[in-house]
Amino acid sequence: MAVPRADYLSPVWRDGIFENKVVFCTGGGGTICSAQVRALVHLGANACILGRNIEKTEKMARSIATARKGAKVIGIGGADVRKIESLEQAVERCVTELGGIDYVIAGAAGNFLSPIAGLSSNAFKTVMDIDTIGSFNTLKATLPHLLASVKKSPNTGTNTSTGGRIIFISASFHFTGMPLQTHASAAKAGVDAIMAGAALEYGPYGMTSNVITPGPIAGTEGMARLGDKEQESTGAAQRRNPLGRYGTVKEIADGTVYLFSDTGSYVNGEVLVIDGGGWRSPGSF
Ligand code: HXC
Repeated sequence: MAVPRADYLSPVWRDGIFENKVVFCTGGGGTICSAQVRALVHLGANACILGRNIEKTEKMARSIATARKGAKVIGIGGADVRKIESLEQAVERCVTELGGIDYVIAGAAGNFLSPIAGLSSNAFKTVMDIDTIGSFNTLKATLPHLLASVKKSPNTGTNTSTGGRIIFISASFHFTGMPLQTHASAAKAGVDAIMAGAALEYGPYGMTSNVITPGPIAGTEGMARLGDKEQESTGAAQRRNPLGRYGTVKEIADGTVYLFSDTGSYVNGEVLVIDGGGWRSPGSF
């Protein structure tokens, strides 16, 4: 069944702006990334989404495809961003079936709450591997196609269909430090650093690299894992955010459209925090 547009995309964006473009997204079966991809598909793109769970990823691909008549969305389950070969195979399939890659969302992540004393070395490494190495692998495997995309359609600031853009999904934990999240903080600091290096190395080719940092977004797996259920049930957790509420997946999707569309052509090397101002407010997330 089709998801109502209002659930994942503001009415301000014009249909067709991503026509003939292809988005490649890791973690695409998840709540946030699927909304990002759904918005891009709605606006004209075709897509390839990757996830670890086969059934969940394929089902999500079919659901996203309903956002626009004629949309092509490939779901590649069983993918593991920790393994570069897994990404290379997915990239090859995406390019063969959809004709290239214009936009990338590196969204795959793994997380749990744990004090440092409860973290084994392997637990810390696992999160680093999924988030940091996984983001690097995603960049590495898609880079030739991102550069080919921007060459086809150069970023002059006046070209309305520039490709060659990557968004990494990060977190704000490392801005301040966060109890029970040392592993994810370290991993996401690495993600931000990968983005910054890519922005400087490939900006001269017209490619843009940015980070989106979601805050507490309602209804996500992240909040199910990390949220304080008791505080949420009374609304106390939501009220601690400066805007007095949790965010929505639509607000992350809108930021994505901003960065990938013509509106974001001069934004490179930036961390776009979409969190209601939460990270600035101690204890609010
Ligand atoms: C302490 C834990 C743990 C926990 C796992 N480990 N859970 N340690 N507390 N709660 C340890 C294990 O004991 C093991 O170490 C090591 O981590 C690897 O665990 P495995 O289960 O073997 O690994 P794997 O199957 O690859 O699972 C990866 C995972 C898991 C990250 C641990 O949670 C997972 O796959 N999650 C699904 C994806 C996910 O988390 N999505 C939510 C993303 S939300 P030992 O020493 O025993 O071998 C998100 C929000 C970011 O990222 C912030 C947004 C603002």
